[in-house]
Amino acid sequence: MSKTGFDGRVAVITGAGGGLGRTYALEIARRGGRVVVNDLGGRPDGSGASHSMADQVVKEIVEAGGQAVANYDSVSTPEGGAAIVQSALDHFGRTDIVINNAGILRDKTFAKLTPEELEIVLDVHLKGAFYVTQPAFKVMKDNGYGRIVFTASAAGILGNFGQTNYGAAKMGLVGLSNVLAIEGAKNDIKSNVIAPIANTRLTQDLLGPIAAKLAPEFVTPLVLYLASEGCEQTHEIFTVGGGRYARFFVGMNDGWVKRGGQPATIEEIAEHIGEIRDTARFTIPGGVGDELRVTAQLFKS
Ligand code: NAI
Repeated sequence: MSKTGFDGRVAVITGAGGGLGRTYALEIARRGGRVVVNDLGGRPDGSGASHSMADQVVKEIVEAGGQAVANYDSVSTPEGGAAIVQSALDHFGRTDIVINNAGILRDKTFAKLTPEELEIVLDVHLKGAFYVTQPAFKVMKDNGYGRIVFTASAAGILGNFGQTNYGAAKMGLVGLSNVLAIEGAKNDIKSNVIAPIANTRLTQDLLGPIAAKLAPEFVTPLVLYLASEGCEQTHEIFTVGGGRYARFFVGMNDGWVKRGGQPATIEEIAEHIGEIRDTARFTIPGGVGDELRVTAQLFKS
């Protein structure tokens, strides 16, 4: 099998009835993969449902000679997630790839955010990714192979006005992916995150004059790379859009160390805040152990 081909591979793609997810489904199928095209088929705010979006993408794939099956379950319940993965097992006998992509928006400034607007956004983006990925992860562990992609957003990684619910859900996915990357390592399961920028129905009113230059197809190749056998990266976050492919990362600087075995005073923190925040030198820890090792160094005589 070619390292960037998908012959023999089965991909579950959530929210694949439009926007970014559709492009992943079409391209994986074009490269020989079999695809579960999941889409609830509702409106951008998460209301409603229909079969037409997933059906349309499956039709396009089949007409182009590819293999795909539609699934209309919502990612936002454990039963929905299980049914989506079961669809892959029933139709294609395995699951190698999960691209968590389904998404909705309920933007509201924090002071006005209702519990319902919080819950529906957490349910689709964050819990939905748990519900779909967990049953697939079990299959991947048994098979000793898996590729998982989560769709985060700069709204969470960097922050964006009016999106506390969405930003928190999206940053939660970074935590989920980081831990899965560690848990999946010994079974060749790689887990990565993208933060895309693309002109879709979710963003059509937000991107301004550059919208026309931000076709979803610019995001597709990076996601397919992360979903491919040739991908050696795991535990990483990529920002992608309009032809730019780059990395976000969580770095840790050297900081300032108070010697002598006593806590610093508040006044000392104020005095050294420049060193504490200085990013001139940093490392990118690969997990909790890397940070603990740095801390343990303090106590070596
Ligand atoms: P989109 O609205 O075209 O695609 C999202 C798809 O998810 C829709 O087809 C929708 O029907 C489906 N969906 C929604 N709720 C669902 C549920 N409960 N179960 C199954 N399917 C469901 O928008 P787009 O932009 O393609 O979004 C894809 C992902 O990318 C989302 O997670 C979004 O938050 C994320 N994203 C997009 C950005 C952009 O610039 N377009 C920026 C940052 C993140």
